[in-house]
Amino acid sequence: MILVTGASGNIGRCVVRQLVEAGERVRALVRDPSSAAFPPGVQACAGDLAEPAGLAQAFDGVERMFLFTPASGCGSVASAARAAGVRRAVLLSSAATQKADPRVNPIAARHDAAEKAVQAAGLAWTFLRPDSFAANALAWAAGIRAQSEVRGAYPQAQRNPIHEEDVAAVAVAALLGSGHEQAAYLLTGPAIITQAGQAEAIGQAIGRPVRFVELTRECALEEMAAHTPRPVAEKLLDYAAKSVHVPPLVTSAVEDVTGRPARSFARWAQDHAADFR
Ligand SMILES: NC(=O)c1ccc[n+]([C@@H]2O[C@H](COP(=O)([O-])OP(=O)(O)OC[C@H]3O[C@@H](n4cnc5c(N)ncnc54)[C@H](OP(=O)(O)O)[C@@H]3O)[C@@H](O)[C@H]2O)c1
Repeated sequence: MILVTGASGNIGRCVVRQLVEAGERVRALVRDPSSAAFPPGVQACAGDLAEPAGLAQAFDGVERMFLFTPASGCGSVASAARAAGVRRAVLLSSAATQKADPRVNPIAARHDAAEKAVQAAGLAWTFLRPDSFAANALAWAAGIRAQSEVRGAYPQAQRNPIHEEDVAAVAVAALLGSGHEQAAYLLTGPAIITQAGQAEAIGQAIGRPVRFVELTRECALEEMAAHTPRPVAEKLLDYAAKSVHVPPLVTSAVEDVTGRPARSFARWAQDHAADFR
């Protein structure tokens, strides 16, 4: 039995489906099972990662798990899992752990602490360190549906967006295969694309042009702060500003681990065209 946490999320839901397709028995942890739909055969299990004392049922009979890092951290979740007999964890971490200083970057701090907690618990571990998710572009969906426009700072910011199915495919390879223990993978899409290029690719996928409306940093910060903690929004804008001149790395880790090249952003836009129409 494999436990998937964060199972209704962008990555977790793909991990669940790919494990089922591989013939595995899967238990999916969600806070509210009535709000999540999983493929037939998946055991949905109620539990909150912020309250590890209540996870005994979720861990029962589980040897391997896909671990999402909740806002509350992974410390007591990892030790409770190990105590309940879980042996391996594939942790959804972040490229921020190797690109930023955890002392000043909250995203790096959160994932750095999660990695250390999994190691300290004595679990055999694999760390997935994706850089930007292609799915971050879903934040543009309402503006594209309503006005065919994206509003943001730094249209020439360079990205290496990774498709959620590729992060999940690496997770599944690490959960099911050998040779991934004590390995950390920096995961990216196959190529660099600018934010303006992403808007254009979405326009091509939906069959009508999408404009990128450039905002000043201050305006963009105000808009982001409506749904993102301000220190995180500031770090995301710092990162975007830097990437105008310094492109992020592109790695071959997806292909190295899964044997298949990473999907392009154009492919992601086609897969998600319905979200933007
Ligand atoms: N966005 C990026 O570019 C990027 C890049 C690298 C790494 N990351 C990392 O990837 C993660 C986000 O992954 P995602 O997009 O797949 O997540 P997501 O779509 O935001 O989904 C989060 C999932 O976690 C569950 N969850 C949240 N808190 C929980 C808790 N306390 N107990 C149980 N379940 C809980 C949610 O379940 P409910 O249904 O119960 O709400 C949901 O299924 C974050 O850790 C982020 O830092 C993101």
